Amino acid sequence: AARALIFDLDGVLTDTAHTHYEAWKQLADEIGVYFDRDINERLKGVDRLASLRIILERAERSYSAEEQLELATRKNSYYVEAIQRTSPKDLFAGVDRVLADARQAGLKIGLASASRNARTLLDKLGIVDRFDYIADAGAIRHAKPAPDIFLDVAAALGVPPSHCIGVEDAAAGITAIHAAGMAAIGIGDARALAQADVVLPDIAALRLGDVVSS
Ligand code: G6P
Ligand code: MG
Repeated sequence: AARALIFDLDGVLTDTAHTHYEAWKQLADEIGVYFDRDINERLKGVDRLASLRIILERAERSYSAEEQLELATRKNSYYVEAIQRTSPKDLFAGVDRVLADARQAGLKIGLASASRNARTLLDKLGIVDRFDYIADAGAIRHAKPAPDIFLDVAAALGVPPSHCIGVEDAAAGITAIHAAGMAAIGIGDARALAQADVVLPDIAALRLGDVVSS
């Protein structure tokens, strides 16, 4: 039976997948590079510089490492500005209940987000204290789709991966969860998340009783 739930953040607990998209879109427009929501699907769960490299695939010129750093920093400043006014009312419906049910069932609760803004965001959402462990994205060697971040969280929680369930909205995240030897719940589009063990339209549809016993 499951002993831990390990959550992604952006697009799972709150709508920041959209906020990241808007920040990248602003940057892409400024440098005259085409970017749309289909390309954005490839960015979900992917770290900041790797995301920029995907956007720059369509650029007409190449960008030096220094320029790339400037662009990534600029995008982050748009994103940080956008999340300033985040509050508990920005939590997706159902998150509060799922966290309460998990606690009630005696499950450990971890966060495996590639975002370096994750702790700040959880704090603004008012749920930072409800996690037993929050991975430090900057300290993880291989980004999703590698399993590293999920394995780091499982180890910190003291739960073997086979007893962990990962919850993700990104294809790269589902791959990472499976590579870590965990069961994967996909949140969002069933076609984009076809590899997941279960796909739910949103976190409000997550009933702990259905997943924990299996
Ligand atoms: C998450 C999001 C990505 C984002 C990444 C890095 O994985 O899904 O869209 O690029 O975190 O976020 P950061 O806040 O560190 O730029
Ligand atoms: Mg996500």
